[in-house]
Amino acid sequence: MPTEVKPRAVSPSRKAAAKRGVLLENVSRSYRDRRGSAVAALAGISMSVREGELLAVVGPSGCGKSTLLELICGLQAPDGGSIACAPAVLMPQRDLLLPWLSALDNAALALRVAGLSRAESRARAAMLFEELGLEGFQRARPHELSGGMRQRVAFLRTLLSGKPVLCLDEPFGALDAITRGEMQDWLSQTLMREPRIVVLVTHDVEEAVVLADRMAVLSPRPGRVIEELDIDLERPRSRTDSDVVALRERALIALGAGARR
Ligand SMILES: Nc1ncnc2c1ncn2[C@@H]1O[C@H](COP(=O)(O)OP(=O)(O)OP(=O)(O)O)[C@@H](O)[C@H]1O
Ligand SMILES: [Mg+2]
Repeated sequence: MPTEVKPRAVSPSRKAAAKRGVLLENVSRSYRDRRGSAVAALAGISMSVREGELLAVVGPSGCGKSTLLELICGLQAPDGGSIACAPAVLMPQRDLLLPWLSALDNAALALRVAGLSRAESRARAAMLFEELGLEGFQRARPHELSGGMRQRVAFLRTLLSGKPVLCLDEPFGALDAITRGEMQDWLSQTLMREPRIVVLVTHDVEEAVVLADRMAVLSPRPGRVIEELDIDLERPRSRTDSDVVALRERALIALGAGARR
């Protein structure tokens, strides 16, 4: 079943389209602080992500990016507006690996939950261990892995869930520059082979331009979309391509303007 939260304000035809993608209309979300005062995290967010599209979301710290992904995945409900979305899985900002399971069993967890046998889940996860530079660490517990390795195991677990929508919250944040570049290439190639809808939250504007089809730039809290950029460039892309550099500059200008507003 698709994840649907307060769908009533989405028109039936758009809702039908959104069952294969992601559609947010005028979404807002506030929290209560310790004193009970409202902290507005997101205000009036409207965005859509089509089948096979990778949308990057960039914005300053605390502007509601993680909140946005949790809303899309149905892990929390909006206060206002509506969300319609195909089944979505979240790779959270903190890896949340289960400490008592091996790296391989952590990666295979979604397959186990989906009902596959332990042997089959492990076999499918193991096939990707080498590709992600994790070969030899199948039996290691999370505390025996580096931060970057933990992140890769968590990424594998998300991918293996098989859900059509992947919400990735800073998936490469803890990686060194070289591994980060390798993981970005790997993600691009994997998505070419096996298209998914991806909502990628990142602090790295360059990463957004290299990987995404579109970029949404959010304002400081409460997050609003202040600019949407189409990234209509051929792949593979390099950080040094002049078009990549130009779009990066545009996004940075939008971020800077948002911060001064
Ligand atoms: N469970 C919560 N209870 C109260 N306030 C919260 C909660 N979760 C988030 N917030 C507040 O909502 C705002 C947005 O938080 P969120 O984690 O979504 O931002 P973010 O853009 O992901 O930040 P970062 O880039 O640092 O990860 C922040 O002011 C945060 O303090
Ligand atoms: Mg966050």
